[in-house]
Amino acid sequence: MPKRFFQILSTLLVLACSLPLAAQSKSVDAEGHKWWQHAVFYEIYPRSFADSNNDGIGDLKGITSKMAYLHDLGVNAIWISPCFPSPQVDFGYDVSDYENIDPMYGTLADFDRMVDVGKKHGVRIILDFVVNHTSDQHRWFIDSKSSRTAPHRDWFVWRDGKGPGQPPNNWISTFGGSAWKLDPTTNQYYYHYFYAEQPDLNWRNPAVEKAMLDTTRWWYKRGVSGFRLDAVDTLFEDPNLTDNPVLPGINKQGDPNTDEIHNKKLPEVHNVLKKLRTVADESDAVLIGETWTSNIDELKEYYGSHDNELQMPMDFMFTTVDKLSPPEFRRQIAQVDSAGGWPVFVISNHDKVRSYNRYGDGKNNDAIAKLMGAFYLTLRGTPIMYYGEELGMENNDPKRKEDVKDPIGRTGWPNEIGRDGERTPMQWNTDTNAGFSKKDPWLPVPPSYKTHNVATESKDPNSVLNMYKKVLALRHTNEALLEGSYTALNEGDANVMSYLRSYKGRAVLVALNMSSSPQKVTFNLADNGFASASLKGLIATPQSSAKGTEVMLEPFGVYIAEVTK
Ligand code: NOJ
Ligand code: CA
Repeated sequence: MPKRFFQILSTLLVLACSLPLAAQSKSVDAEGHKWWQHAVFYEIYPRSFADSNNDGIGDLKGITSKMAYLHDLGVNAIWISPCFPSPQVDFGYDVSDYENIDPMYGTLADFDRMVDVGKKHGVRIILDFVVNHTSDQHRWFIDSKSSRTAPHRDWFVWRDGKGPGQPPNNWISTFGGSAWKLDPTTNQYYYHYFYAEQPDLNWRNPAVEKAMLDTTRWWYKRGVSGFRLDAVDTLFEDPNLTDNPVLPGINKQGDPNTDEIHNKKLPEVHNVLKKLRTVADESDAVLIGETWTSNIDELKEYYGSHDNELQMPMDFMFTTVDKLSPPEFRRQIAQVDSAGGWPVFVISNHDKVRSYNRYGDGKNNDAIAKLMGAFYLTLRGTPIMYYGEELGMENNDPKRKEDVKDPIGRTGWPNEIGRDGERTPMQWNTDTNAGFSKKDPWLPVPPSYKTHNVATESKDPNSVLNMYKKVLALRHTNEALLEGSYTALNEGDANVMSYLRSYKGRAVLVALNMSSSPQKVTFNLADNGFASASLKGLIATPQSSAKGTEVMLEPFGVYIAEVTK
């Protein structure tokens, strides 16, 4: 070969290696799948993951120090809940500067290092973009409230009251009380769907739209691979401020129930999502939506009619199946498959009681945690794990009102105890505070940290952690799990959830006993192209096995097998 050829080749290689991660992976695989369709996502609540400076609060250096753990677990992207400067009224969901890092979490230099170390471990960074509202301490709002003619006045939603002491209409804040607050400086009310310290941005103002789109560009340039978009349902309000219909009863905060048709899920939301998507596509980035849909048509809309909105709207309807019910899970999976987009499965997050408690029966919680991991990590779609779920971390709910940190728990106590319980520190080992911090952490770890922690579980082949690791390793290497279709099996079975993931004549069968008694199931796979099939076990709980196509499952047992002809 001529020397010149090698010179060109090596120049091309150097160029390829120096491209940003996003640009390098623009390609799709043979099935047209993008990087985020094969990735496993993991949500980190930064206050609670790892505390590098022992002040009791997690930080970015802490996250960076755990990249090898995340890689070994099988995680490819971390979604970090807001780590931007914030007065922390809603623990970061009240952002006072979108283009910086809160000093409690570190600096922009720490952020850059986290991106670099993440890249070395194959872990991408997804940030949480709080699009609906800022903090009342954001300079935009400080200017906005200063006078009726301030340059940023129209960046938020200001209105006159209906009369003396009366807000403009009957809209209720989801965190309690009226959604309007009177500001004495200009004697007008501003709108806040969440806390009064979280004023809603006015997305009808093109300047707001431009500033927010530019913010995403700024972070993409810094190496971010996408955003989780907070509270997209509430971006727009009816400009006529029509009252919402009042429904019977009161909510947990003691406010009247209302049908929020005039301040939620307005069609204008989709125009904004399309614009955010256009910018994301320039960097091969992904948009994940906090999409609280009540039916499959709403979910479908979030993907966009031409796959031009969110690539990954979360299917929270899946989390409403709150018991181990194969028929209900089958129904929900079939529904989400019919939406036409790529499914996104979540079983826990920082706003929801941990899956360990939601699905656990109090006696077999570890077995059930393994079963749930084996379940949603083998479905067709992208899973988003919640930190500590892989350990069987449980909720540690406050017992007394005075211990509550989450404001909705303080205003709603005892009907609404808040979300502290699912936000406690990650359990790394058996040291004080579960190895999270040498100082008492901002929230206490539950006593179960002694058994449910990374160090202890790593040594136990039957731990929840090792089940997660095995399933994730299989998911990353098995083509049927990566690319294959989903077919429900034995659909009349009320106890065993089973399905086939098939790709190019090969298939993986997953059988999950969702009951507390042993189950024996026979599979006829002739219609699935396996006339004389047998099963070769890949992952199984100790007492679960197969003979031919008959599968024996212990209570809450798991059996995952390669189907052979
Ligand atoms: C949804 C977030 O997940 C939640 O934690 C937060 O309180 C609200 N949005 C308001 O930003
Ligand atoms: Ca810290």
